[in-house]
Amino acid sequence: MRSNRLLHIISLLILAVLLGACRGQPSDKPPIQLQQNMYWQQKYKAFEPNDFFDDRRAMLLPVEGTIPRGHLRGDIQRYEGIHEDGSFVNRIPIPVDRALLERGQQMYNITCTPCHGLDGFGNGIVIGRGYVPPPSFHEERILDMPDGEIYSAIYNGANSMPSFRRLVKRADDRWAIVAYIRALQVSQSATEEDLTIIGMDPASIGSSAGNEMASN
Ligand code: HEC
Repeated sequence: MRSNRLLHIISLLILAVLLGACRGQPSDKPPIQLQQNMYWQQKYKAFEPNDFFDDRRAMLLPVEGTIPRGHLRGDIQRYEGIHEDGSFVNRIPIPVDRALLERGQQMYNITCTPCHGLDGFGNGIVIGRGYVPPPSFHEERILDMPDGEIYSAIYNGANSMPSFRRLVKRADDRWAIVAYIRALQVSQSATEEDLTIIGMDPASIGSSAGNEMASN
């Protein structure tokens, strides 16, 4: 009997604690919060009026003529790949070094290969599934394109190819891709003399090295 009553009291206590944790019924009054934490802060939310200023905006506009740091897009050769008259920039306008090429390879492999393929022949994985086949980067027309036109294809899209400027956000990454496409193009017409430029002896290239390259 006694233990039964004790059990009742304990379960009532537990129920009271559990109910106490409820925020309660809908009410206009602010809820009672024993533990305030950082629920209430003196601050303005976006678009809230603020009577302190004449135009009653809480969100102040930047001072006229403000230039956001790191976001100046004044150099259209670099950011759009064109000159003031709209013609394409002929050569990549930033220094091209090995680091840029490697960055270009990484970004190209991530962004462009589904359609253009790892080697740039336009045989990416989605082409076999019915996507419009892109041109090969190794055809005359693309070999002769100014660098800025390839950049512009990434930035603005080209005919049925959408723009990839949001996927490749930084202008220098886009130029890195252009540099890597140039490297892919050169790779298809490399001569024995080119091998000596990079310090390789053409005589050392036997059939085994050829196989190694083919399997890469
Ligand atoms: C979703 C598939 C797809 C992806 C991804 C893609 N392309 Fe293309 N690309 C195409 C197609 C299709 C064409 C042919 C467009 C046409 O002429 O209608 C094309 C054309 C091009 C051309 C030739 C433009 C011209 O004027 O003829 C260039 C250069 C190019 N792409 C570069 C790139 C680069 C660089 C990337 C990666 C940043 C990329 N593409 C990603 C599908 C793609």
